[in-house]
Amino acid sequence: LENGLARTPPMGWMSWQRFRCITDCNKFPDECISERLFRRHADLLASEGYADVGYEYVIIDDCWLEKARDNKTNKLVADRTRFPSGLNALADHVHNRGLKFGLYQDFGTHTCAGYPGVIDHMQLDAQTFADWDVDYVKLDGCNANVTDMTEGYPQFGRLLNATGRPMVYSCSWPAYLEDAYPDYESLIKHCNLWRNWDDIDDSLESVFQIMDYFAKNQDSIQPQAGPGHWNDPDMLILGNYGLSYDQSKLQMAVWAVLAAPLIMSNDLAKVEPRVKAILQNRDIIAVNQDPLGIQGHRLLVQEYIEVWRRPITPKNDDQEYSFAVAFVSRRTDGKPYGVTFSLKELLLTNSKGYSVQDLFEPKSNLGVYEADSQFSTRVVPNGVTFYKFTAL
Ligand code: DGJ
Repeated sequence: LENGLARTPPMGWMSWQRFRCITDCNKFPDECISERLFRRHADLLASEGYADVGYEYVIIDDCWLEKARDNKTNKLVADRTRFPSGLNALADHVHNRGLKFGLYQDFGTHTCAGYPGVIDHMQLDAQTFADWDVDYVKLDGCNANVTDMTEGYPQFGRLLNATGRPMVYSCSWPAYLEDAYPDYESLIKHCNLWRNWDDIDDSLESVFQIMDYFAKNQDSIQPQAGPGHWNDPDMLILGNYGLSYDQSKLQMAVWAVLAAPLIMSNDLAKVEPRVKAILQNRDIIAVNQDPLGIQGHRLLVQEYIEVWRRPITPKNDDQEYSFAVAFVSRRTDGKPYGVTFSLKELLLTNSKGYSVQDLFEPKSNLGVYEADSQFSTRVVPNGVTFYKFTAL
């Protein structure tokens, strides 16, 4: 969507994966979907260094609404006990920290968790979002006819645009198509990002399933990404219960290669320092946010080591790209597994060679690799190594 927004993949924090639909604030005061949760996370983004490296959007997912609209005006109403100050006050809190404010709705009659959806009130809701100073809208697709989405998702996007307030538009549309082929032309035109497939859960298995979907369909998915329009493999789950330290690196590296939106869903007060360092790795974020906006893909698989590769800046004088290359191990046989590839096998064909940096070792310099050389790496089970090959 050419609305001037999301020129690089959006970065931020969203409630769903970690906090789901926890609504009992008496029992779970730190976890329930409430203004307190979002204020706390806006504060933590700013105070814990996340905002400094680019995380920007604080996004409310499902379960923020009252069960019914206002019976006189039909307007959406935020849950009165959990959001007692109202959404304008919450938006102010977020904006005062230099951050942006995101909100969830659903294209259907109801959200997935059963709160009112937009279907019969699209114009009213678009205007309400603008009036609440929203900067980012996630439009889910539960409880709707998939056939209505062809018209409906673009229509809601036009209504958002017509408010005059710039809002990033995240469309869940393709994730609801099951096996049908998404209308990418329409998605690129009307949405800033779109969820291609299933929800992420808090496990490596879930990360691998998403990677497999993206790899299997990469010929159709990869070309669709670019400045203003991104594929979305779903949230970053680093900092929760499901991933080890090495598996956390794995998700971060592959999401950087995929030019994925970097939307964390975790409790930012509880992220251990070494995982926080992964989330805040500036070199990897720079790969993710590369200005060319070319999505990478899975180049090859050998002995259960997958090579994921993305063209990035800088280009050299001959207009050859640099590359970010991740070696993902799907092996489980104990020892770190050594692999060697020729640069040719990695399709690193710049005649002058590359200087190589280990992206998980800040400021590392592994020296120059000539065009006809070999590159070796050792990858731990269910782990990753990740390098930048800068074209000389
Ligand atoms: C399905 C979406 O894909 C999730 O990301 C989340 O928004 C839930 N619905 C909320 O009900």
